[in-house]
Formats: sequence, structure tokens, C-alpha cells
Amino acid sequence: MTADPWYGGEPGTAVRASIPAPVPRPPVRLVDGLAFGGDYNPEQWPREVWDEDVRLMREAGVNLVSLGVFAWGTVETADGVRDWTWLDDAIGLLHRAGIGVGLATPTAAPPSRLLAAHPEIAPVLADGFREPAGGRLAWCPANPVFRRHALRHVEALAERYGRHPAVRLWHIGNEFGGGNARCYCDLSAEAFRDWLRERHGTLDAVNTAWGTAQWGHRFGAWDEVLPPRGRHGAPNPGLFLDYERYSSDALLSQYLAEKAVVERHSDAPVTTNLMVGAGAQVVDYATWAPHTAIAANDHYTLVDDPRREQDLAFAADRMRGLVGDRRPWLLMESSTGSPSWQPRNRAKDPGEIVRHSLGHVARGSDGAMFFQWRASRAGAEQFHSAMLPHSGTRSRVWREVRELGRHLQALKEVQGTRVEPARAAIVADDPAGWALQHGLKPHRSLRYGRELREWHRALWERNVLCDVVPASAAFDAYDLVIVPTMLAVAEPVAARLRAVPERGGTLLVTYLSGVCDEDHQVIPGGFPGAFRDVLGAWTDEFYPLQAGEAVALDDGAAATEWTERVVLETAEAVVSYTSSSLAGGPAVTRNRVGDGTAWYVSAHLPSASVDRIAGLLAETAGLEPTATAPPGVEAVRRVGPEHSYLFLLNHTDTDQAVDAAGRDLLTGTDHPSGAGPLTVPAGGVRVLRETPRP
Ligand code: GAL
Repeated sequence: MTADPWYGGEPGTAVRASIPAPVPRPPVRLVDGLAFGGDYNPEQWPREVWDEDVRLMREAGVNLVSLGVFAWGTVETADGVRDWTWLDDAIGLLHRAGIGVGLATPTAAPPSRLLAAHPEIAPVLADGFREPAGGRLAWCPANPVFRRHALRHVEALAERYGRHPAVRLWHIGNEFGGGNARCYCDLSAEAFRDWLRERHGTLDAVNTAWGTAQWGHRFGAWDEVLPPRGRHGAPNPGLFLDYERYSSDALLSQYLAEKAVVERHSDAPVTTNLMVGAGAQVVDYATWAPHTAIAANDHYTLVDDPRREQDLAFAADRMRGLVGDRRPWLLMESSTGSPSWQPRNRAKDPGEIVRHSLGHVARGSDGAMFFQWRASRAGAEQFHSAMLPHSGTRSRVWREVRELGRHLQALKEVQGTRVEPARAAIVADDPAGWALQHGLKPHRSLRYGRELREWHRALWERNVLCDVVPASAAFDAYDLVIVPTMLAVAEPVAARLRAVPERGGTLLVTYLSGVCDEDHQVIPGGFPGAFRDVLGAWTDEFYPLQAGEAVALDDGAAATEWTERVVLETAEAVVSYTSSSLAGGPAVTRNRVGDGTAWYVSAHLPSASVDRIAGLLAETAGLEPTATAPPGVEAVRRVGPEHSYLFLLNHTDTDQAVDAAGRDLLTGTDHPSGAGPLTVPAGGVRVLRETPRP
């Protein structure tokens, strides 16, 4: 295959080299105020409906829509033949109405014509089965035919609309990896080998990193190296982890190739919608977020999650951590009600649309957007909720959408302000999560997000603000750093974490953190090798528990899922095991390190124990809540140059009183200090402009 102007390189080569260092950009202002809107798919509707759409958008205060996300096939109607009529019309209509456009490169859904002509574009699963067309993201990032067609279309789109005044943002693709996270085809195998050459240099270095002497799997030639294919067996963990990293880079390379094409024709900011949540993500977003002008997230609450507001807070805190410097980000998608991809898709309860949306804004989003504007009558997502549901403007959802629009308008001045600095951080690292969840591990069903969310929950319930940061973050600003189940840790990261107690801070490390290095090799000498010196304790043996099994603790609670035989050196036991063969042994330890403290949690603890320890940590590190609020009331503050804004979200079904003062921007009423506690209505939200800033 020869170099191609739309390809940007030889097929399968230099994935890593195609990823330049991110260029820092000043914060962007997409629209005047907080962004409000959603995915708009006018191509699904007759033209006369569009006029009503735009009228209702204006009525609701919509100022930004994501347009054309899946509109490749409806524009490029035959190979190289493009009919822009409807898109011209839609962009013009929105522009005349003063509604900004986040214009999508529609590469998430290649036309069926292209897939029929080139079935080899579709990704191959680990078992060799080629995913048939029909869904979305039916393409392999190493496939040059896909890339050529995709970039050719992106170029035509950017040429046509790059300078259009309605285009406020470029929305590249859609949820990269959400359907094509890993491809195991031969082209991917080739690209992977090139990626390995770039990462490790020589085949010898690969053999050493992966420890291929085991099972006699030493590679003598590059083409013996294959992706971790097959459904059975146990691929080498080093190979597995590098394949995950390669796959993330391969998708990032596609994003960056599209972005580069767009930027040749447009100065508008470029982003893509991430899917940041609590678990290990499909790609390593720490390497993606710096390549966006404003990082954007899609967040959907899970219907069966009893603490969905905490899941939301976790995702938002993680977005802030990924972006760094507390810069605002954007909630690109959420739902007004039922999704359609969960097992049982229930509507949201009254008040949740506003509370959830403002929950994201409180934690740094400069807007609230949804999938989608108008509910689709047909197609796979016909039962997905929308801003304008099937029942139209007489629905409760529409009333709440309009209410949200008014609130966002009232909060206009919040745009660009930053969430106040957090003094606590939790480290979330996707490669460590991939490592934890894969292969022959002492416990095969541990999920990476579990401990992350649990420790976050304990701080969230105390209204202690906490950033969820990637391993690449600077930890210097934090008084407390929590490292949950970060199985594989690169030594430079471990060194920066060990520095936390050494400079007087508090570090808490949970079980299965720092056990392996970045190549997934166990660090010998007692677990967790990366941290045992600073912890003043080490683990001799793992004791994962069977389902239903529990080991009693001397704090009155019991550990489940995971326990360990811990040996104390300089640390003291804070909690000990009182049953099983571990009885009398330490479960939670604390070590003085200069003026700092390093804690080790060797077990999966019940919430009551986590809460107690979180209390001790907050006390030691001197962490204050954002506001003194009753249980179930969430308090977060954004800070601007003149004022600060205290968001109070009442997740309970009774009115709650909070000691706070300021002007409530949502109702326009003043609540001066000295006027007694402020009432936050059941299920409601207050946003106080505080003058002066506390
Ligand atoms: C998102 C996706 C949207 C829509 C939505 C439904 O993951 O980006 O296009 O499918 O889910 O919840």
C-alpha cells in the first residue's frame, strides 16, 4: 500500500509516532454561557419537523447541538458522491436561530455500502469471528481502507463547513472504542509489532519484558508475535497489557488523524466524547484528554445503581482529574430518562434531570447536553429517552427540560469558573485496571471500579472534595492520596506516590496495588513491592475468599472477597483479623513516615469500616467538608474571579436545612448570613453566589 494523502502514513506503521505531544490550549468558550442541548439528528425526520425543532429548541434555551454524528451514509450517497443539501439546510436553519453546532465527523458509522464493498474493515474478535456490519464502530483502526475513506470524507466535510460561523466545536467520531475497542485481525497484528518496536526497541527486550521463558514462549522472529487471540488458554500478561495499550493508541491515532484534517480547514475547537466512569475504561483516557480543546464526557446513570448520584460525582471528579488544572470540561451526553441499552430501562424520577445535570455542572462541566434532542420513531434507539420525548411537549420530561434550560441560563456566570482545589485525590489508572481484571489472577472476578468507588463514596458522603486523577498527575498538591487496587505501577509513578508521606502527606494503598511493575512482572521480596518500604509492612500470602465467606475484624465488621497474611515491620495494626487462619494478624496498618503517614488496607472492607478509616484520614490530613450539610445533601463549590458558587444538591425526599448564605441564582432570592439555615427542597438544588468568597 502506498502512502496516501488521506492516510497520513503507511498502513500499520508508527502508531506511536503518529501521536504527537499534546499542544496546550487556552480554555475555550463554546457558547455564551453554559452549553445546553443534545445530539440532533434531523436526517431522521421530514423537513417540516425541523422548523418545530428549532422553535422548541429556542423555547427551551438550547444553544448547542451535536449534528451529523451518524450522518456519513446520508451525505456520501455513493463512493465519492456527496449530497450536502440537507446538512447545508440544517446548519443554516440552526445558525439563523442562533444555535451553535458541534459538527461531528461521522466516522463512527461507516456507510453500509463501504462495509459491503470492504468487509475486511470490520473488526475481528479474539476468537477470529469478524464482527458483521450493522452496529456502530464497525471498523478496525489498523485498516487503511477505512482510514482512507474516513479521512477523505472528513476532509470534504471540513472543507465545506470549516469556516461556517455556526460551527462552534468539532465532535470527532463518537465514543471511540465503544464497539471496536480491540481488533485481532492480521493488520492489527502487524501494527502491534510496529508498536512494540517503538515501545521496546528489540525483540529481545520484548522477550525480557514479558518473561517469555515461561512455557518456552520465547520469540525468535517478529512475525511470531500475535495479538492475544483465542477464547481459551491464558495469554502472557505482558503481551495482554501491551495489546491493550496498543489498541488504545491505535484508536487515538485515528482520532488524531481526523483532528489534523479538520484543523487544516477550521480554527474551531476539536474534541471527542469520552466514556469516563468508575471502572477500567475501553481506552486509556489519560493519554486522550490532553488532545482535546475541551474534554467531553458521556455519562449515563445505571438504573439499578442505588447510588447513581455518587457514580455521577465519581465520573465528574475523574473528568476534572483527567483534564488537570481544574479546567472546565463538558457533559456531552446524558439522558433525560430511560436509556435503551440496560436490561430494564426505567424513566428518571421527577427532579433527577435537573439534579443530575447540575451535579455535573457543580463538578466542572460547562454545560449539560443529552442524547438526543427528539426521540427517534424507528431504529435501534427508538425507546431511548430524549429532550423531546415521544409524548411531546405535554410530557413531564419536556417541562423539566425547560426548567433546566432556565436554570442553566440563570447560571450563565458560572461558565469558565473552576471547582475549588481538592486536597484529596484517588488514583485511577486504566492500564492497572486492565491488568487487574485479566488472566490467571488470585481472584478472577475483582472489578477495578469497585474499590475506587467505595473510597470515593466515603469522602463524597462527607462532602470532602476529591479529584480522581490519572497516574501521570502531579500528587504534590494533595494532602491525602488513595491508591485502590492499582495492580501494575511503573516505578516513576510509585516513587511519586511514596513521596506523598515523605513530604508530610497521607497515602493509603489498598490490596493488589503496586504488586507488579508496568510490564506486569511481580516485584519480588514481599507484596506490594512498589510500596512495602513506605508502608512498613508487607504481605506474605494472599487469601482471597470464596463467595459468601467472611473474615471477622476487630472493629466489629467483617472482610469479604479478599484478605492477606500481613507482616508488620515498622507499621502498627489499626484493624486486625479475628477469625480464620489470619486471626491476630493485621488487616489495616499505619506507618509513620517523617511527618506523614502511609496506610495499607489488605482486605475488601465493608462500608462501615471504610467510613471509619475515611474519618481518621480526614482528621489526620485536616480535610474539611465543603459545607456542613445533612446526609444526602451534596455540596460542591466552583470559584470565579469575583464570586464563588456553592451548589447544594438534595438527594433525599425531604427538605433539608444547610448552614449557607448567598444569593440563590436559581430562584433569584437572597439568603443573607445570619438568616438561619437555608432550606434545600426535597430532591432540589440551590446554587448560592457567595460574596465575598469564603
Ligand atoms: C451513547 C452514544 C449515543 C447513544 C447513547 C444512548 O453511548 O454515544 O450515540 O447511542 O449512548 O444512551
